[in-house]
Amino acid sequence: MTELSVSLLSADQGNLRGEVERIKDTIDSLHIDVMDGHFVPEIGFGASVIESLRSHFSLPFYAHLMVEKPERHIRSFASAGVDAIFIHYESTPHIFRVLEKIRDKGVKAGIALNPATPLCLLEEIWDFIDILLIMTVNPGYGGQELLPFTLKKIEKASKIISEKGLSVKISADGGININNIKKVRKAGASILVVGSYIFESDDPARAVKTLRKEIEE
Ligand code: DX5
Ligand code: ZN
Repeated sequence: MTELSVSLLSADQGNLRGEVERIKDTIDSLHIDVMDGHFVPEIGFGASVIESLRSHFSLPFYAHLMVEKPERHIRSFASAGVDAIFIHYESTPHIFRVLEKIRDKGVKAGIALNPATPLCLLEEIWDFIDILLIMTVNPGYGGQELLPFTLKKIEKASKIISEKGLSVKISADGGININNIKKVRKAGASILVVGSYIFESDDPARAVKTLRKEIEE
């Protein structure tokens, strides 16, 4: 099943609950971009924001930690009620320890890779991740163009996963819209993160339905 995971980065930050209410029955999960102003230039979405949304929605919440030293934040995001935490491979030397910490909290463990970060770095940790988040844009901002070379990376990851007989899901994140969503799905991503295409449209729920129709055709 293909999952449409909606990024709140381009939503009206002054009305997050209302924005999610508008689309909650059409989407499969929420993708919440956490930024610390160091790993990426912008600052956004702390655990308290997630906590305040959690009680209103039963949707799966995925926290995308674009932060340095993510090991310092696992406890707070796990207790905020997220269902998965994506840490960036580039953000800590203690990858394995952090993945264990996430799973120990009963949360799905995800690794996010920046566009230039090669898949071979995952060689020793494939068995310890539930979701691989392949950045199809440079992290830190919504509304960017998808980087075409990242589609090959998704295909390569999908091939590795099937050859190893793993149950790791691939999520693609950034620049996904009606013109490329089919290609991203075909490359092997089953959790598709979409932000600006939805929230910059005049009818976000309709935009979600259009995307879903495109991938299900
Ligand atoms: C970028 C974020 C993405 C982004 C997706 O750093 O990780 O989740 O918000 O939004 P769009 O679809 O606008 O690229
Ligand atoms: Zn993201």
